[in-house]
Amino acid sequence: MTKIVAGLIGLGTVGSGVVELLKKQDFITIKTIAVKDPNKQRPQIEGSTITCNIEEIVNDPQIELVIEVAGGIEPIYEHLKNAIKKGKHIVTANKKLLATHGPELFALAQKNSVRLLFEASVAGGIPLISTLQKGLPANEILSVCGILNGTTNFILSKMSKEGTGYDEALKEAQILGLAESDPTDDVEGFDVAYKLCILSALSFGQFIDPISVQREGISRLKAEDVETARRLNCSLKLIALGRRDNLTEKIDLRVHPILVPNAHSLSGISGANNAIIIEGSAAGKICLSGPGAGKLPTASAVVGDVITLCQNKHLPLEQKSLKIKNKENKNKSKNKKSQCGFKNYLRLVLGASSKPGVLISALAACKIIALQIEHDGLLTYTMVTDSQSDEQIDKFRKTLETYDIKVVSRLRILEDESFSLTA
Ligand SMILES: NC(=O)c1ccc[n+]([C@@H]2O[C@H](COP(=O)([O-])OP(=O)(O)OC[C@H]3O[C@@H](n4cnc5c(N)ncnc54)[C@H](OP(=O)(O)O)[C@@H]3O)[C@@H](O)[C@H]2O)c1
Repeated sequence: MTKIVAGLIGLGTVGSGVVELLKKQDFITIKTIAVKDPNKQRPQIEGSTITCNIEEIVNDPQIELVIEVAGGIEPIYEHLKNAIKKGKHIVTANKKLLATHGPELFALAQKNSVRLLFEASVAGGIPLISTLQKGLPANEILSVCGILNGTTNFILSKMSKEGTGYDEALKEAQILGLAESDPTDDVEGFDVAYKLCILSALSFGQFIDPISVQREGISRLKAEDVETARRLNCSLKLIALGRRDNLTEKIDLRVHPILVPNAHSLSGISGANNAIIIEGSAAGKICLSGPGAGKLPTASAVVGDVITLCQNKHLPLEQKSLKIKNKENKNKSKNKKSQCGFKNYLRLVLGASSKPGVLISALAACKIIALQIEHDGLLTYTMVTDSQSDEQIDKFRKTLETYDIKVVSRLRILEDESFSLTA
């Protein structure tokens, strides 16, 4: 294997894991390591110089490969563009950067004949990117569906197994180092949306702006939602779902809490683990699971990319799967109703002026079938609808408001043949 001189940007959780794993390899030298805070106490790394100036890596003609594990967009975006322009290969774990500026970075890498590898950017230690790129090229990917954030999965597992409230479960995740002091990116689903955008590019040949992902986090979930999940033989999970609508050909990307039937393979994924089901046109459904984050699992993916790069450095570039194919046919999708729907669990509270009979009228007016309906207390009803689009459920909600009935809770249900409505 050709010996390579690398620069490392970032020496935090993942960066220190990368150094630990690369120490065992003799094909690479990390010449320079860039960090942010010059005053932080850190162990000496033999053979490497530490700097606070990323340009020392970017402008060093000896450095062929930049390993970026710092995170965030600026200043990293500008530095990586400059490194690519100078002919350096890139290995990155930065999902936010790739989801936001992936098209420009991949085009620039192609133009400059360098590789841009990113296995660690989605699902940490699980070889998900390589499975999509190398394992399933004979397939059209029909859907990807999974749990891609360990922090929220830990919080939800804790809430359902131990009856802990959201705030308490979040605090524990922070104490264990699983959640940041500002947990917004994780708990509001931004982190998963970035990952889903990367998966969309690989699966459906389209980069979609993270802003266009339909996104809801877990911070508004209550103990009664967890109890609902238990009663319906489901678990509550933050799910990333990407699928192509067969009728409109639009790509539907969404991240939100979903009731997952207990018999479903994603239901048993607990704690900080991740799992993803990829549905290929020929291979059928494949499920990958494992540690989605952490020092060594993530470093395993980064160093795997470094090894791949060193082995294949001189082979022709293969980044076809990341070209924007822009398959979406806007004319075809016009006036066609999306088929991407869900069964829904709804909890309704009747106002003083409402009458239960109007519920049936509202269902009929919105063409919604109630698969199950229960009187839950004097003025509260719960129901499970047939599969409906978000637009239709919003219409139903508005119609109910005109009858003085409020939808106080709505949870989508992940379709599964084994799902039973028996509470
Ligand atoms: N942690 C995980 O389990 C995990 C999993 C998958 C992907 N990732 C991704 O991996 C990347 C790194 O995550 P992490 O958890 O290792 O972060 P981290 O622990 O916060 O470490 C970040 C490192 O980058 C350095 N850094 C930040 N901004 C910099 C700048 N402008 N110039 C130079 N150095 C800078 C920091 O320097 P100081 O040491 O001076 O602060 C620190 O060493 C992120 O993109 C993240 O999304 C992380």
